[in-house]
Amino acid sequence: MIFDRNENRPVSVLLGAGSMGTAILRRVAAGTTILFGDISEKRLAEVKKEYEGYGYAVETQIVDANSRESIEKFAKKAASLGEVKYYIHTAGASPNQASPEKIIALDLVGSAYALDAFGRVIAKGGAGLLISSQTGYMFPPLSPEEELQIMTTPAEKLSALPCLSPERINNSGTAYIVAKKANHLQVQYAAANQWGERGARINTLSPGIIVTPLAYDEFQANGAGYQRMIDATPAKRVGTPDEIGAAGAFLLSDAASYITGTDLLVDGGTIAALKNGKFKLGA
Ligand SMILES: NC(=O)c1ccc[n+]([C@@H]2O[C@H](COP(=O)([O-])OP(=O)(O)OC[C@H]3O[C@@H](n4cnc5c(N)ncnc54)[C@H](O)[C@@H]3O)[C@@H](O)[C@H]2O)c1
Repeated sequence: MIFDRNENRPVSVLLGAGSMGTAILRRVAAGTTILFGDISEKRLAEVKKEYEGYGYAVETQIVDANSRESIEKFAKKAASLGEVKYYIHTAGASPNQASPEKIIALDLVGSAYALDAFGRVIAKGGAGLLISSQTGYMFPPLSPEEELQIMTTPAEKLSALPCLSPERINNSGTAYIVAKKANHLQVQYAAANQWGERGARINTLSPGIIVTPLAYDEFQANGAGYQRMIDATPAKRVGTPDEIGAAGAFLLSDAASYITGTDLLVDGGTIAALKNGKFKLGA
């Protein structure tokens, strides 16, 4: 059966076909072709089956979000399918999943490659969203001079910056905080301007503790720390991927048409509790 006879459908792209990304995507993708990218072939097969089951036209591509070449190929594929209306980037690794070097390469440099590549193919009136994290608010990990360096250095030269060197970023927790802070800076400074030149918008969204496979890896490694954080959070609970879906869909929608180059913190108040001294971070 042919479910959609429309020609020239726009394209909704998700890189990192995980829990939060799909929760955002399914709120905005009606009437578009969906392009999923992920490093996991198994995950791509699962989402293809699921979303074709809902009646979407679905394309997939294996992408390694560490690799500029792989991301460029993915952006090319997206543009070949039609006007790229939405780009959602959630490919990331958390502190207990990867080494500091890998986190800087994926969460920081890989994100910069994607902002750049999709900033060259996003359609007029299109919108993008990069999933950062509440950790970007946890403590100022960089000096103002280092922040400026991150904002002004082209993506392919970022890993050579002394402030991102293995000597300086010597544990995965710090790497994660720096990477997620850098996501805010890159979007606020360079990406919003680049995307704006094409008549498109780009923002970051910083989730708090959201129960996903990635979060379970964190709970396993530091359950007590997370419990303290949950107990101190004004909402007194974790968040769900669907709550991120609702906030993300807002930022992508025309209701947010004057919002670009900014971050939306969606954390149930965890950062407010931290700033209030209701809990302390571990080492
Ligand atoms: N879950 C949380 O509590 C939480 C909180 C704040 C921020 N985040 C961030 O949200 C983003 C999405 O996380 P999630 O919780 O939805 O996780 P998830 O595990 O559900 O999804 C992540 C997806 O990214 C894919 N991926 C991993 N490495 C990749 C690579 N190199 N190339 C391409 N794809 C890759 C995985 O296969 C997976 O499908 C991450 O950037 C994470 O840091 C998560």
